[in-house]
Amino acid sequence: MQIEAIQEYQTVNEPDLRKLKVMIVDDEPMICETLKIFFHSMGINSIKTVESGEMALSEIERARYDYIFMDLMMPGINGIEVLKQIKGIHQYTNIIIMTGYPSMDTVINAMRNGASDFLIKPFRLQDIKIILERIHKFQILMEKNWLLHQELEGKKEVEKLNCELEKMIGHQSRMYDIVDSLSRISKSEDLYKFIINKSIDSCNAGKACFMLYRHEDPELIVLCQHGLQEVYPGYRVAINHSANENYFLDDNFIKMHFGKSKTEGLTFSNYCTKDNDLIVIPFQIRNEPFGVLIVGEKNNGQHFNDEDKFILMFLADRTALNIENVALYNNLTHSLMASLASLVSAIEAKDPYTQQHSSRVTEYSIKIADKMGCSYDDIQRLESSGPLHDIGKIGVHDSILNKPGLLTSEEFEEIKNHPLIGVNIVAPLGLDPQEQAIIRNHHERWDGKGYPDGLSGEKIPRLSRILSVADSFDAMNSNRAYRKSLPFSTCIRELQINSGKQFDPEVVEAAVSVFDSDPEISG
Ligand SMILES: [Fe+2]
Repeated sequence: MQIEAIQEYQTVNEPDLRKLKVMIVDDEPMICETLKIFFHSMGINSIKTVESGEMALSEIERARYDYIFMDLMMPGINGIEVLKQIKGIHQYTNIIIMTGYPSMDTVINAMRNGASDFLIKPFRLQDIKIILERIHKFQILMEKNWLLHQELEGKKEVEKLNCELEKMIGHQSRMYDIVDSLSRISKSEDLYKFIINKSIDSCNAGKACFMLYRHEDPELIVLCQHGLQEVYPGYRVAINHSANENYFLDDNFIKMHFGKSKTEGLTFSNYCTKDNDLIVIPFQIRNEPFGVLIVGEKNNGQHFNDEDKFILMFLADRTALNIENVALYNNLTHSLMASLASLVSAIEAKDPYTQQHSSRVTEYSIKIADKMGCSYDDIQRLESSGPLHDIGKIGVHDSILNKPGLLTSEEFEEIKNHPLIGVNIVAPLGLDPQEQAIIRNHHERWDGKGYPDGLSGEKIPRLSRILSVADSFDAMNSNRAYRKSLPFSTCIRELQINSGKQFDPEVVEAAVSVFDSDPEISG
């Protein structure tokens, strides 16, 4: 190598190259010195020369180098061994192996152990420049690649976070939906339907069954289900009692309706899943088992996951609270309604002619409603409000109520207040508007001449129209203080004569049919 040759490459002045730290490892001082001058000429200021592998290893303990030009054959540790050790410490240091006796095996061995390139002695300084530029370009590419990779990772991270966020929002909205829906449910039967529908929707499941736990026997009773064959409300399911006080779900039931067997472990004292194909959620009220929800057959053959479990557990916790409130409310309402009904009976008992009038009117109303194809809910309304339809008579003086003769117009005006007094009494009990209307409008007339609102035709609530016919029929068909009961045929004729005037023709038709076909009524 000539000094002139070195000067030829002084034009190589890459700004990035100037920042490099270079080490030369060679036991030939001439090589070290020549390369040092050459690198200086390129503008590289940080150059270290050492004569052996041991010195090189000692040096890299102290500093990190960008490039190490290293002789392969040196006294002491050879170049390959030094290469391995340096790579073990500084993975990204570029090591260029220099040798005068290259073999293919040597080259492959060096490259395999992390050498960046190879210089064959004697080499031209131009070769060094080419190597440096090649490695540098490679590094730039690697750096770009790394940046792209980082960017990609960043995007992936953002996507992952977005995904997590969406999941959390989904969770929150489903939880809100459960709380919101529950706040609008006041009937137990609606609650159980809600549990089933919500668990099916939330988990994308095909089957769900909610069963009530009966402490006495013990056994489970199906209250509501979806997707199960031949399982209906009231269906009884056996449970197995283990020695350690755990109750296990009946294996036959699970096998038959959920297509799974071996339910050992499916207790309902703890939240649990079995093989993730089935999820069992116990419902507890004040730490006592109340019921159990089984959800199965997740769509597309998927397994139940922690998210499903979380939502169902949340559903169970919230619903249990609601069940407790509804039960308390129902008990309270039921006992208040029962008290009022006995009050009505007490009023009726004062007058031997009206005894049991309200209960008969209720019975007739239900039969007529059934004949007319009214819904189950409407029949329930008649059952709850019918006995109370005359509760407002509490506010009417006994002397008027039990008067044997005809009423004066003033007395009749007082009597006419009883529907409104009645509604005021029952309104705080939580009766729904249709139930209240039965009481308020049972003295309205089809022709609009009734009271208290003077409604006519179909503006009168249907259940009030039904109760009105039943009420009038019983009044005619039973003894009164001022007259004896009318013959059955006369009562029927009166209904028919007043059909379209006082009464809804459709109700009269149904009522006549019911009364005619019932020997207990027709006599
Ligand atoms: Fe009445």
